[in-house]
Amino acid sequence: MLLELKNIKKQFKNNHVLKGIDLSVEKGEVIAIIGPSGSGKTTLLRNINFLETADSGSMLFREQQIDLAKPTKKQILWARRHMAMVFQNYNLFKNKTALKNISEGLVFGQNKSKTEADELACQALDQVGLLGKKDFYPSQLSGGQQQRIGIARATVLNPDIVLFDEPTSALDPELVGTVLHDMKTLADKGQTMIVVTHQMSFARNVASRVAFFSDGEILEEGRSDEIFDHPQHERTQQFLSAIAEDY
Ligand SMILES: Nc1ncnc2c1ncn2[C@@H]1O[C@H](COP(=O)(O)OP(=O)(O)OP(=O)(O)O)[C@@H](O)[C@H]1O
Ligand SMILES: [Mg+2]
Repeated sequence: MLLELKNIKKQFKNNHVLKGIDLSVEKGEVIAIIGPSGSGKTTLLRNINFLETADSGSMLFREQQIDLAKPTKKQILWARRHMAMVFQNYNLFKNKTALKNISEGLVFGQNKSKTEADELACQALDQVGLLGKKDFYPSQLSGGQQQRIGIARATVLNPDIVLFDEPTSALDPELVGTVLHDMKTLADKGQTMIVVTHQMSFARNVASRVAFFSDGEILEEGRSDEIFDHPQHERTQQFLSAIAEDY
């Protein structure tokens, strides 16, 4: 098992946002997390990546046990070296070129030389077909291109797992496909990923497993065809039938 989350709880004031999340991820799996707005999907990813501190719960990652309520600085740095996150709004630095958005983290975070970092960044850009845009600033790129650079940045060091938080939801509809295509390519290469998505066709066709979130809990979880064809829970059935998309 690459990642095992146990009983993660998080509340904001009286709002119990995560009510005890358990989730296991094997190497090479693509897990889609679907569910209604406000159910805690983003909060879960932020807790796993230490952008938020859980009230309780643990994470076993690459055989290291981490208490998510009391992670040490060393554990946080170590875990972040092996996992990466892709955000809904790209989170690129506006005053840095595409190349520097990728390479600077390698120089400051990973102690690579400037030359080596630039070389790695060029390879990563090439993989998403954007090497030609390496000297462009985010404002000169489409949303889809920015997000693909976000993906290049996240995957440049071959992380063990990539966490995606609705990577296509801020995109114009005709750009969604290009980003999903990059994600599918990554999945086909065996990249382990957890993807929070409203893109049901992606969840169905690319994910190996789907977890349905509702109100701070995983209501059901299973192979994607099982969840889509035979949802057990009434809330899941309701959610899926309310979605207009064909999947
Ligand atoms: N920093 C915070 N402070 C207070 N409340 C928060 C904070 N972050 C999230 N919440 C609350 O936690 C709940 C879950 O939010 P979260 O963003 O995890 O939902 P989500 O499932 O990702 O929704 P969406 O599909 O709309 O992105 C919401 O009620 C939200 O208001
Ligand atoms: Mg969210």
